[in-house]
Amino acid sequence: VHEGVPQGVALDIQQSASLFRFDTRVTGDTDPAAMRGSDLVIITAGFPRKPGMSRSDVLEANLGIIDGIVDNMLDYAPDAMLMMVTNPVDVLTWHAFTRTGWPRERVFGQSGALDTARMTAFIALETGYSVKDISALVLGGHGDAMVPLPRFTDISGINIEHFLDAEKIEQIAERTRQGAGELLPLQHRTHAYASLAAAIAAMVDAIGHNRRRILPCVAVLDGEYGQKSLAMGVPAVLDERGLTGIIELKLDASEKAEFRKSADMVHSDISNLPA
Ligand code: 2OP
Repeated sequence: VHEGVPQGVALDIQQSASLFRFDTRVTGDTDPAAMRGSDLVIITAGFPRKPGMSRSDVLEANLGIIDGIVDNMLDYAPDAMLMMVTNPVDVLTWHAFTRTGWPRERVFGQSGALDTARMTAFIALETGYSVKDISALVLGGHGDAMVPLPRFTDISGINIEHFLDAEKIEQIAERTRQGAGELLPLQHRTHAYASLAAAIAAMVDAIGHNRRRILPCVAVLDGEYGQKSLAMGVPAVLDERGLTGIIELKLDASEKAEFRKSADMVHSDISNLPA
């Protein structure tokens, strides 16, 4: 907890108001009571991984931080929605769900909005077409076993296979899985900022403006995709009440196998949570 930093960041954003044309009042505080009355709490606090580490490697370091914030939410924002961003986001979303005992539409995480944005960007760079016409889909845990889905990826409704061969598509899928890992050593920093912030903003916009968008998010599963007792990335409906729907795709055999492998990795992280 760095005294002054939240206040300074908030003031910096506030000073941009006339340029970005917003009238929102932005405040920063280190007192958890500042959460009082919030509709949505976005949790990004925690130790980011270092180059060479997986997202799961920071689970132990971040668990205590998340518990503290979740307990403060129970005190100050007991009716809020909780959006988890801190990694490992799938297992920490599940942990927040069990610790709060809240309905699952109020506890979800950010993963696929960022992962699909990365895949879209890489397709645009490769094909030269506009990102405005590209729609990609990435499911599964937000880790190295995430599941890019070329079969559900198109440019203006034309499947990506029309534009790129299988080898190039797999290269883009792998670059998507390593999207953050590619950044870390280059930036000598902790993780994505601009792309991650934009992904969070897309989810907040869908919730805040009740847009009923379908975005891949970390959702608590209760039988969907044959999975229970975990949270991971699936196509979800976001509106003013939170994550109010899960879209179950008809996956083919190889997609199902990849999804199950990703789920197994999230279950493994969950098994490492203290009882
Ligand atoms: C990322 O992929 C931080 O997990 C986030 O950049």
